[in-house]
Amino acid sequence: MERFDPMSHTAIQPLAPDGYRLRLPGPTFVPERVLQATAQLVVNHRGPEFRAALARAEAGLQPILGTENRILFYAASGSGMMEAAIVNVAGPGDELLIVTHGQFGERFSTIAEAVGAKADVVAAPWGEDIDVDAVEARLREKDYRAMVVVHNESSTGIVADLARLGALVRDRPTLLVVDSVSGLGGIEMKQDEWGVDILVSASQKALMCPPGLGLASVSAKAWKVIQGGGRLPSFYWDFRRALASAEKGETPFTPAVGLVAGLIEALDMIHAEGLPNVLARHTRLANALRAGGAAIGLTDFGPGKRKSSTVVVFDVPAPLDGAAIVRELYQRHRTVIAGARNRLSGKVIRIGTMGAIDADTIGTDLAHLEDVLRVLGHNLTPGAGVAAARASLS
Ligand SMILES: Cc1ncc(COP(=O)(O)O)c(C=O)c1O
Repeated sequence: MERFDPMSHTAIQPLAPDGYRLRLPGPTFVPERVLQATAQLVVNHRGPEFRAALARAEAGLQPILGTENRILFYAASGSGMMEAAIVNVAGPGDELLIVTHGQFGERFSTIAEAVGAKADVVAAPWGEDIDVDAVEARLREKDYRAMVVVHNESSTGIVADLARLGALVRDRPTLLVVDSVSGLGGIEMKQDEWGVDILVSASQKALMCPPGLGLASVSAKAWKVIQGGGRLPSFYWDFRRALASAEKGETPFTPAVGLVAGLIEALDMIHAEGLPNVLARHTRLANALRAGGAAIGLTDFGPGKRKSSTVVVFDVPAPLDGAAIVRELYQRHRTVIAGARNRLSGKVIRIGTMGAIDADTIGTDLAHLEDVLRVLGHNLTPGAGVAAARASLS
């Protein structure tokens, strides 16, 4: 039998080949500084060092969420946090109104069904803006326990108007539950001002961290409902446990210690640049990518006007296939973008414009896209995409 040798120093096996460019709408590229922080010595998760770390992470996040609420941390992906939000507010017999405008909104419906929560759905066609008047009409029909919506729909690149949606429920018993997994840190969020009652997010998108750290922020209005009971049974996701621990500077269960260390670095980077500058950079770069795409025949998906700053979704021009573009970008350039794993499969490509990116990132994306589209037989003027992006930025 082979013996374990604790002193052996073998080289780390790299996960990615040289030149690998992670350009998905999440997980996103993790800056070196954040990576290094995640590799620090693991400390006692109930000791003074980690208490201080959680406090720093909370203080750094609050302005990004636009809240003074406590931040609840979980070792979880975004979907875990979506489920957590649902089970904490939907008791037996309570009804939810799920507003969908893409794949992740539909995931909320799937979660509701899986956990036995009753839900009605208002669905916006994919690529269109949410019809807030239609939502208001549905809210008038009954007192829903919560309205549930995805802030930034990563599948379509459309952003929900949370200020207007929040205003609809401010004076009703209905809570507003929001997934900002792919928005937070890249698109403005004003949780307290807009009346978002439960906001959930995750580490691997605009927050520039590896995946695995989930977070939630809960308003006083939502705490009244949660503390009042009448919620679906759950143990791990019970926000009451998380709050009780947060009051002691802890998490209820073993947290992702290294990811919290990474998050602190990422938050320092965001605040050193300045949150308004970070948000403006996201908008500028997403617009530049759209301008570059338009110049080489890649048009924006859908007629919606509330375009995302963290993900750009392009229609794939006929007769090309989105999967072929994704494959060739990787094979020729080691650039990794997303297609779609839903009804838009083959019809769109999606590129992240969030986190640690700059004008060069977008320029390289477009240069690679131009090359691959030409190889696949698409007619374009070489250099037109890169030039249009540059013009948009100047
Ligand atoms: C808007 C949105 N919500 C939820 C999720 C699910 O997050 P996770 O894959 O971390 O479970 C994603 C992931 O892409 C997302 O973009």
